Amino acid sequence: MIRTVVTADYEALSAAAADAIAATVERTPDALLLLATGDTPMGAYRVLAERRARGALDTSRLRVAQLDEYAGLAHGDRRSLYGWMERSFLEPLSIAAAGTIRLDASLPPAVACQAYDAAVAAAGGFELAILGLGPNGHLGFNEPPVARDAPTRLVPLTPESIVSNARYWGDEDDVPREALTCGMASMLAARQILLVVSGPHKREILSRTLDEAPSAEVPASWLQDAPGDVVVLADRDARPATP
Ligand code: PGA
Repeated sequence: MIRTVVTADYEALSAAAADAIAATVERTPDALLLLATGDTPMGAYRVLAERRARGALDTSRLRVAQLDEYAGLAHGDRRSLYGWMERSFLEPLSIAAAGTIRLDASLPPAVACQAYDAAVAAAGGFELAILGLGPNGHLGFNEPPVARDAPTRLVPLTPESIVSNARYWGDEDDVPREALTCGMASMLAARQILLVVSGPHKREILSRTLDEAPSAEVPASWLQDAPGDVVVLADRDARPATP
């Protein structure tokens, strides 16, 4: 069952997402979070960092797994999604890199994916998955079409994802063509899932995610079948009031 919460704007969305994440951390201090990069969750991460800085949130036992990573990057490449996660979450929230679960693009893909899944299983699975919504409906880099039980794997990026990721790195030519992604099966098994969606450009794909029957063509629509507690947090631009 999906619960949808609509906020007035991005600022309210970020505050609500931070509240939801903080509630999980307070209830389960050593929770394993599956953590998206992308623009949408950045406001929530900033709010959490401010709370921690003023002593209102204890993240000392928190564990984090990365959601996806471009393939074929050299060590230290500016486009590393792990690097983005470090700058936006691990460092501001003072989470030790040693405890994080990585999709290591320097390893052969099958080895990296197997190591990732084994580490997630050993950690007891995800307590909370924090996800953004791709313009093509992807979660992580589970590009359409995708089965609801798709494993953690190497995937080619769709043209839509290449266009949309170009805004992070400058140009379409700067976007790697393949990525490792946490599979649909693992993320849907999270005990809680928080999908954050902002802006009018996400309106149509969010409607297809929530209002149509689940299908491989809209990966996020599989959230309708997730066994855990699923909350979709959207701002009014992404989810206008129905007339
Ligand atoms: P965004 O990315 O939060 O930057 O819009 C979402 C995604 O493509 O998964």
